[in-house]
Amino acid sequence: METLGTETAFEVLAKAKALEKQGKDVIHLEIGEPDFDTPKNIKEAAVKALYGGFTHYVPAAGIPQLREAIAEYISKTRRINVDPEEVVVTPGAKPIMFFSILACVNPGEEVLYPNPGFPIYESVINFVGAKPVPIPLLEENDFRLDHEYVKDKITKKTKMIILNSPENPTGGVLTREDLKVIVDCISNRDDVIVLSDEIYSRIIYEGEHESIASFKGMKEKSIVLDGFSKTYAMTGWRLGYGVMRKDLTQKVTQLMINSNSCTCAFVQMAGVEALKGPQKEPERMDAEFKKRREVIVSGLNKIEGITCKKPRGAFYVFPNITGTGMDCRKLGDYLLNEAGVAVLPGTSFGKYGEGYLRLSFANSIENINKALDRISKALKKR
Ligand SMILES: Cc1ncc(COP(=O)(O)O)c(C=O)c1O
Repeated sequence: METLGTETAFEVLAKAKALEKQGKDVIHLEIGEPDFDTPKNIKEAAVKALYGGFTHYVPAAGIPQLREAIAEYISKTRRINVDPEEVVVTPGAKPIMFFSILACVNPGEEVLYPNPGFPIYESVINFVGAKPVPIPLLEENDFRLDHEYVKDKITKKTKMIILNSPENPTGGVLTREDLKVIVDCISNRDDVIVLSDEIYSRIIYEGEHESIASFKGMKEKSIVLDGFSKTYAMTGWRLGYGVMRKDLTQKVTQLMINSNSCTCAFVQMAGVEALKGPQKEPERMDAEFKKRREVIVSGLNKIEGITCKKPRGAFYVFPNITGTGMDCRKLGDYLLNEAGVAVLPGTSFGKYGEGYLRLSFANSIENINKALDRISKALKKR
């Protein structure tokens, strides 16, 4: 257990809740979940399934209707041919990270992963006794890959490369050119697998989402992670999936059998409706995120000591706070205690996050403006 890490967002949330209990007003910009309600058609599908008998165990890899709907959706959006048997449904997308790393990586092997990046990657790499090899995502590279650096870090010992685009926490988006570098590096390697975390693929503000699985020969070498939490505001439902080769679906299904048995049956039926039903609601949410992005980026850039690049995807900003003279943990605590604004220090996402904060703009424009005002005043007061 000593090698297993955690996700600081939940710790900051607990601290913020404790302050709220004492009567302090806190604006929550720390947690990564849409503030919108799950669309009505999806809720109705769940209720219908609940009363329609979807209350028992179902196949460990997912119900056929959902695996088919996912195969169709990924085939269309990633321009590849996916068979329903190449899909494993899990309670949230997070288990796909855990299970893929458990299934594919042996102790001593190397795993490349984005840093700053989602903290669970590094946590699980350490947990299986593998060697974490961070790929720094730097502001000067628009939080994209440094091609030469990546080429240099792919060695004989590399077993897995984790990519996340659009990225949490930086909002960076990998281009086809970036992905091509990885594809070329592993073109002669059948022993390397790419875990491509595409959970934010629908929340993209400029350009199109590009998946490494769409490159020739890469479908067999990729595990595409995606889910319903962010796109359909379904974080609490716990529904996600991985798309991978059939030999890997068997391994991941075995891990499902050993842990969860299966994903909640009526929730899976809601997932079918999410994918096949009207897409107006997710589109409306994305349009709203886009407006909020403008507000938060321009507001942060007006605050002395802070500069902020416009994220190209997801719903986070990753402002540079070095001009404040404070380290990111101290500043995070200061803003929570003095300004009543909960944010995450950049180092919650790895050592290359020093000098940054992560703010989620999955909150109303009114609250974002209030938070900006409070941050500005608290920094002037020092
Ligand atoms: C990059 C990334 N991948 C995966 C997940 C997990 O999503 P889920 O709620 O479906 O488990 C998150 C959630 O915050 C995330 O930010």
